[in-house]
Amino acid sequence: MPELAYVNGVFSSIDQATVSIEDRGFQLGDGIYEVVVAYDGQLFELGPHLERFRRSAAAIDLEYDFDAHPLEPILTDGLRRCGFPDAMIYVQMTRGVAPRCHAIPPGLTPTLVMTFKPLPAVPDDLRSRGARIITVPDPRWSKCHVKAITLLPNVLARAEANRRGYDDVVFVSAAGEVRECTSANVFIVRDGALKFPPRDTSVLHGITQRFLLACAASVDIAVQEAPFDVDALRSADEVFMSSTTVEVLAITSIDDRPVGDGRVGPVTTRMHDAFVQRARGQTVRP
Ligand code: PDD
Repeated sequence: MPELAYVNGVFSSIDQATVSIEDRGFQLGDGIYEVVVAYDGQLFELGPHLERFRRSAAAIDLEYDFDAHPLEPILTDGLRRCGFPDAMIYVQMTRGVAPRCHAIPPGLTPTLVMTFKPLPAVPDDLRSRGARIITVPDPRWSKCHVKAITLLPNVLARAEANRRGYDDVVFVSAAGEVRECTSANVFIVRDGALKFPPRDTSVLHGITQRFLLACAASVDIAVQEAPFDVDALRSADEVFMSSTTVEVLAITSIDDRPVGDGRVGPVTTRMHDAFVQRARGQTVRP
């Protein structure tokens, strides 16, 4: 089955889909996005993803009439057309096409692009050994809660980590507070309880993170939303990241030091099992 694209009302193959070189997304990074998955043909947490998309649009004054032109029918149509039961859908909206200028011209029509692909699996060896990450200063802007397409700091940080043989970084604020990875939220585990950084403007408010709160409640694991520093991160019993694409992924090494015993921990495994069970409705072997 072919991977599918959608551009402004038209479905096509990905290699036939085009946008203007004067699109403000291409020239200025002036746009927002979401990554949504489907499990067994069902869009997972679509409502929260679409709500966050609307909040991102509002945060950058991107005018689009979501009520008159809802995205949900396009997503369900694309999912049906592509036929992938487990799918990854990229949704991007930019401010539209105009001769390049920093000022925002009035009356632009936003460009809406989607791709529909099979959901990529996390490689088995990464899943079983856990991610090795490094801490780096956070160079990003002050609106990281907006899911903006301007991801250059994240891209460069990930590239640097990969070049040095690590899987990812965790961004740390100037005040020493742990924020998030390049494309995932971070949780620490201490004495069986979870903690994650405050959902303020310095991190993306993850849909997976939010879903995990319900998962934790269902398996009687306490969760706290509170700031913590690099020492707390490094000395945690377990650390994991969460995102739409990795679900729950253990972090087993930070700055070349093992987290706990350096292996994927029991709370991380329980949280991932709980996630899979709730999200995919599958039975997980004990
Ligand atoms: N990224 N933090 C950042 C910076 C992210 O880019 C993401 C997701 C998350 C986790 O959010 P969620 O649970 O809603 O996926 C946290 C997506 C997957 C991406 O850019 O591909």
